[in-house]
Amino acid sequence: MNKGKIIAGVLAPHPPHLVYGENPKQNEPKSEGGWEVLRWGYERCRKNILAKKPDVLIVHSPHWNTIVGHHVLGLEKFSGLSVDPIFPHLFRYQYDLTVDVELSLAISEEIKAKGMIAKVMKNPDFRVDYGTITTLHLINPAWDLPIVAISANNSPYYFSNEVGQKQMMLLGEATRIAVEKTGKRAVLLASNSLSHRHFTKESEIPEDMSAEHVYSHGQYLWDMTVLKMMKEGRCAELLATLPEFIDMASAEVKAGALTWMLSALGIPDYPAEVHAYGTVIGTGNAVVEWDNDTN
Ligand SMILES: [Fe+2]
Repeated sequence: MNKGKIIAGVLAPHPPHLVYGENPKQNEPKSEGGWEVLRWGYERCRKNILAKKPDVLIVHSPHWNTIVGHHVLGLEKFSGLSVDPIFPHLFRYQYDLTVDVELSLAISEEIKAKGMIAKVMKNPDFRVDYGTITTLHLINPAWDLPIVAISANNSPYYFSNEVGQKQMMLLGEATRIAVEKTGKRAVLLASNSLSHRHFTKESEIPEDMSAEHVYSHGQYLWDMTVLKMMKEGRCAELLATLPEFIDMASAEVKAGALTWMLSALGIPDYPAEVHAYGTVIGTGNAVVEWDNDTN
């Protein structure tokens, strides 16, 4: 068997608004569009990612929050209705997904080998969180690739940003080792926004783009600071900056997906491609691709 490889990583945020704006058949609420810059950015990124012919998509989502350990989906099939509890009027999505159980179990074993707690979700009625579903839909709306889903352990919230980051660095290493051992060509999806303060009132038409703008100038400047680091391949500096960014901009990267992915990619020193930046109800979101196949 050939040695597996992480062929790409994507910062792949999950505002349900982006799925709502696309009007796929799986989503019950219908829209007049909205948030096009981000959706078109996803389209460009999707083309690059799918052209690499990955075997599997691995997603880490803040909305599968686990208190004890890092969990993975451990059955071949999960299906059901995923509802965003904050925006149930925008996202009620009928999903049907296939898990790469071999890789899930391999990641679980490598997590344990790193001295951390791992658990495998085998409840067939488990409802997959909307962050995982949204990110996977936007990267591969055909749903014709197997996936691995990893939970967000709660350590950044129970302890500190720094403790959480350390856990996610180890989780990234465990993921890379498991991918290499199982011989897969894998794409990693870090499912989170950047700055995350948001408006608490929605306009009458949620997709009314005349009401959409960044929550604050300070938050925007923080997003530009971290995106510049990504574009210039300064990921070690980015990781060192994340705890401050999290505190200053309430950044959703706190939950660990970006740290996990950068660690699994070996802390890239090559430029990432920013496909889009845009706000959703005031939060900062970017679609960013690390091409780990050619770099
Ligand atoms: Fe979120």
